[in-house]
Amino acid sequence: MRKDINFVKSSGQHSRQAHRDLPEGSFEREMGREGFFGAATHLYHRRPPTSWTNIEGPMKPRLFHGEGLFSGELLNAESELLVNSTCRVATASVHTDMTHLVRNADGDTLLFVHSGEGLLFCDFGTLDLTSGDYIVIPRGVMFRIETAGMKLLTVEATGSHYQLPDKGMLGPHAIFDPAVLVTPEIDERFKSQHDNAVDVRVKSRQQWSTMSYPHNPLDALGWKGDNLVVKVNWRDICPVMSHRYHVPPSAHTTFVAPRFVVCTFAPRLIETDPTALKVPFYHSNDDFEELIFYHQGEFFSRDNVEPGSLTLHPMGLPHGPHPKALEKSWKEPKAMTDEVAVMIDARDPWDLCDHAIKHEWSGYVHSWKSE
Ligand SMILES: [Fe+2]
Repeated sequence: MRKDINFVKSSGQHSRQAHRDLPEGSFEREMGREGFFGAATHLYHRRPPTSWTNIEGPMKPRLFHGEGLFSGELLNAESELLVNSTCRVATASVHTDMTHLVRNADGDTLLFVHSGEGLLFCDFGTLDLTSGDYIVIPRGVMFRIETAGMKLLTVEATGSHYQLPDKGMLGPHAIFDPAVLVTPEIDERFKSQHDNAVDVRVKSRQQWSTMSYPHNPLDALGWKGDNLVVKVNWRDICPVMSHRYHVPPSAHTTFVAPRFVVCTFAPRLIETDPTALKVPFYHSNDDFEELIFYHQGEFFSRDNVEPGSLTLHPMGLPHGPHPKALEKSWKEPKAMTDEVAVMIDARDPWDLCDHAIKHEWSGYVHSWKSE
């Protein structure tokens, strides 16, 4: 990829480069297109763009959390939190060994293991699962999980499939080498369940049908090909960073679907240059709506978010660090972040489901107020 040298226009006080050397006392906001890849203007505000005193109406930042957020069966409509025409985000709590198979005919399913361990049985064999795993299950694959208890975040690529991002200048082995992707194996554990009668529940057009067999349809003797269940754990992700420049969230892209991306914030060093921003810059990423699921650690740009929570920052609203987190980033910068979070940035606005509304913390909209 090459591009012409182009020139930006400017007016008034501004820094020479994005995300560093901010005019004294100013707050930088990026107004960008195409999710950090398109045209962008940086504005240097006198006050934080998140310093609203109130928001009336349905557009506001939202936080979902609490007991019962992880409940219900896999891909169950009642466990859906946010949906749009190309993506459905839900939780699931699998308490015990599933006795039926599930097949999602509506699109690929991405599972993220928030807690617990288990064993996945699918068309291609078995796969051990542990906390922090992402598992991509292609559309149409049959699967079930054996576990003593797992909490899962599920992201359906409705009508489409997941791919890996183009790593561009970083080269194909950056962030994670595709060699770390794990695929299922036909092993003794898989063969030993060939004869069990198992029903297959198929989700098609968001409705369930059940196929019954006198045997287990997971009875492959072997396979070859490249349409497979694959797994990667966040611990195998090697995030890129710069000591002088706060890299945008897009640098942490893990999976891409045609209308949304999934990014992983994994522990990394914090910028050390004295004038570089050390928390995410305020931004109005106006072509995308942002969901972040907080998996573990202390969330360095937030000061009131617990692991197991999900936030929504809709289009039409600038977002950025909480006041205490921003202040702390300048006064007592830490050497490293220890947060692990999953971001789902979608082009299509999200609709809130009842399950999300039931678990919403209404105070989130006011959580940027300084004391
Ligand atoms: Fe964002």
